[in-house]
Amino acid sequence: MQEKPAGQQANHHTGHGSESNRQIRAERFSCVPAMVKNSTCLVTGAAGFIGSHLVDALLARGAMVTGIDNMKLGRRENLSAALQNPRFKFFGADVNDLAAFSKIISEQSASAPFAVVWHMAANSDIRAGGVDPDVDYRDTFLTTHSLLKLMREHKIPRIAFASTSAIYGDLKQPLTEDIGPLFPISNYGAMKLASEAAISAATESFLERAWIFRFPNVVGSRATHGAIYDFIHKLKKNPAELEVLGDGTQEKPYFHVADLIEAMLFITDNAQEKLNFFNIGTSDTITTVSYLAEATIRVASSKAKIRYTGGNRGWVGDVPKVNYCVDKLKKLGWSPRLTSNQAVDRAVAEIVAENS
Ligand SMILES: NC(=O)c1ccc[n+]([C@@H]2O[C@H](COP(=O)([O-])OP(=O)(O)OC[C@H]3O[C@@H](n4cnc5c(N)ncnc54)[C@H](O)[C@@H]3O)[C@@H](O)[C@H]2O)c1
Repeated sequence: MQEKPAGQQANHHTGHGSESNRQIRAERFSCVPAMVKNSTCLVTGAAGFIGSHLVDALLARGAMVTGIDNMKLGRRENLSAALQNPRFKFFGADVNDLAAFSKIISEQSASAPFAVVWHMAANSDIRAGGVDPDVDYRDTFLTTHSLLKLMREHKIPRIAFASTSAIYGDLKQPLTEDIGPLFPISNYGAMKLASEAAISAATESFLERAWIFRFPNVVGSRATHGAIYDFIHKLKKNPAELEVLGDGTQEKPYFHVADLIEAMLFITDNAQEKLNFFNIGTSDTITTVSYLAEATIRVASSKAKIRYTGGNRGWVGDVPKVNYCVDKLKKLGWSPRLTSNQAVDRAVAEIVAENS
């Protein structure tokens, strides 16, 4: 399914964002600087869940897009619409293969230089990084380091980076962008925080601008991982029982990928500091794991029974309760359409449909 361009979505907003917010958003979309709109951009992790939706949205805005993905978790079918578009070029390559990646950048920027890199490539499997820390070092941190080296060499001035709420660790206070010191509890969070630090340093030396987005749990079609994806695949194997890690009480904000893409585009259009950093998510609504499990069962296998493994953590590095503050983003003029439970319900329907 191809997402609508973000500007169009803004005008069609319904839901719990206030009327004045919607108005501000519509006005802002109509007078956006041509920062990202129609520009030439590079997307790393382009064949992944979020990267592929981003590619579709950028193409819908008129951008020239080059995508790169090592296909570790990415899928070519995620790009089936984009690959039909003459403004899209895709390369199956690793960000850390500097020689190959540099050649791609040189060739693809010969006629129009890249204005921005959207760095979505990373290891997205937090549990795998807990078992083997090299995974997050290589795919989450080293990709950022490699990319920054190439951006300096090829004089690409702006980066938009997919960070995460996992950088905050297991703090019991509201997670605002300016709290610290930060001590992540997963290798994944640690390597994202290190990436943020490297980007910050790069803005002091050669980058013109950086946008850091701290994503919550994102759900929706084309998921390559995550609790809903896991539940659906477990139910396919055993339609009678769903094993759920933890006791079901963990609660987190879930966010639909369509809202996420719109928020990222809104931020890059409107936040014009040298180093911009925003939590993206819903602050006022959360979803428990038991809601997530029940919502999945309702659609995927209505007779299944849930079996909880117990304990309040799903796995090492899992943060059981997240109190995410998104006031900074609201102040910029953007708020999501869907509550956390609505995002989950929509994602369950989409992922079940894709996998049946
Ligand atoms: N999905 C979420 O809930 C969530 C939450 C917070 C942050 N993020 C971040 O958002 C970004 C996108 O995540 P996603 O959920 O779409 O995951 P994803 O795994 O679907 O996408 C990441 C893509 O990066 C690719 N990749 C990994 N290492 C690479 C490398 N060395 N070279 C080239 N490509 C490489 C993978 O093949 C994959 O297609 C990631 O940076 C992730 O850490 C996601």
